[in-house]
Amino acid sequence: MIRQLFKRKNVAAILDESGGFNGGLHRTLSVGNLVALGVGAIVGTGIFVITGQAAADYAGPALTISFLISALGCMLAGLCYAEFAAMIPVSGSVYSYSYATVGELLAWFIGWDLILEYLFACSTVSVGWSGYMQNLLLGWGIELPYSITASTFEHTAEGWTLTGSIINFPAVFIVGVVTAFLLGGIKQSSLANNIIVVIKVSVILLFIGFGLAHIDVSNWTPYVPQNTGEFGSYGWSGVLRGAAAVFFSFLGFDAISTTAQETRNPQRDMPRGILISLAVCTVLYVAVTAVLTGIAHYTELHVDAPIAYAIDQLGGQLSWLSPLIKLGAIAGLSSVILVMMLGQSRIYYAIAKDGLLPQVFSRVNRKRGVPQNATIIAGIATGLVAGLFPLHVLSELVCIGTLMAFAIVCISIIVLRKTQPDLKRPFRVPLVPLIPLLGAAICLLQMVALPWNTWLRLIGWTALGFIIYFGYGMRHSKLRG
Ligand code: ALA
Repeated sequence: MIRQLFKRKNVAAILDESGGFNGGLHRTLSVGNLVALGVGAIVGTGIFVITGQAAADYAGPALTISFLISALGCMLAGLCYAEFAAMIPVSGSVYSYSYATVGELLAWFIGWDLILEYLFACSTVSVGWSGYMQNLLLGWGIELPYSITASTFEHTAEGWTLTGSIINFPAVFIVGVVTAFLLGGIKQSSLANNIIVVIKVSVILLFIGFGLAHIDVSNWTPYVPQNTGEFGSYGWSGVLRGAAAVFFSFLGFDAISTTAQETRNPQRDMPRGILISLAVCTVLYVAVTAVLTGIAHYTELHVDAPIAYAIDQLGGQLSWLSPLIKLGAIAGLSSVILVMMLGQSRIYYAIAKDGLLPQVFSRVNRKRGVPQNATIIAGIATGLVAGLFPLHVLSELVCIGTLMAFAIVCISIIVLRKTQPDLKRPFRVPLVPLIPLLGAAICLLQMVALPWNTWLRLIGWTALGFIIYFGYGMRHSKLRG
């Protein structure tokens, strides 16, 4: 009985399943598409919102260093992702990798954790999208009523309360639009994503280009503002807390690996796609932060749209850039939602194909090559969560779930090198076990720094997952027969 719970899928069998018919999915993505998907999933709320707040509250101009620390943790985990994605290039990402390495029960646990990451990240970004959209409409003199713009519930020190609003309608709206796009097929989704990526990267480059000339270096002094006496409030502890705060900005690179089964040459292109997109985003983030804190003093940046705010501070001659930046941000957030929803649906699809979720989720629309029901379920779940709950509760959960997934991926690399040393590894993480251990340690450290109530929510989510596994998955697992 216990042995059954840890039964592992054979890697060769997984690769066989994905060969030939490929579960009905189409192999159309190139390395360029993967980098675009990566940048599409990564650049979003983090750079357009969180950067300003983290500079203002924690790190000041030294937020550039925070970005580098956070990027290092993600790069190490990214290297491990790349080894897995090249070795087991199937839909389902870490879920599928762990099915082959640590067995069914833990694979389910990780899959459930990934659902948490993608579901809540999509919802968080949809709520952010709603905020930017309202801000843009307000600039045009259109004010939407409160009853359709705030979340239904709020969580304060007194507990859960009703806000009096019916639902956050713009958030539900954008999820609906993205779901419709995804149902059109991955080629169409990937094309839409490519266009959006060009728009948002252009907006960011415009900001960097025009902002550079207006940097006032006195805003960078002192580069690491003196600590106020409280841990995390400026000084080096502030730089560290800033790193944890901007971790959210790097989320999404792992979503690339969920499309391995739709990639033309996954062995070669997966590692490249993951690592190039992480590198591109790190360069963009550090440059934006340097310019942002150079043109506006960091103490002023705790605002909803810091990049547009900084441009507004420069006065008349760059005022044309501000609405462009808002539009770019709205487009940018849309593509984060698109790729995260894509990832979410592929996880449902992969789990259902193994029998651990009902089979209807694994049905693929042959013509479009889309897991249709999984996409619709992802849309409904994300729309509901985004419409009902406030942003801060959602974003906290995302980070803890993702950090755990990253740590497990790092450890699994070491386990698989020991248990199945002969597997063909088109890409190998250098310096094993040092790099995976360091990656896991950085992730675990950040998890420990998160508040206790976030841990409680994670425990609640995990308990729900186990109820579903023991109530359904265990009895319907295809591997257990
Ligand atoms: N990295 C994504 C963002 O910043 C989740 O919005």
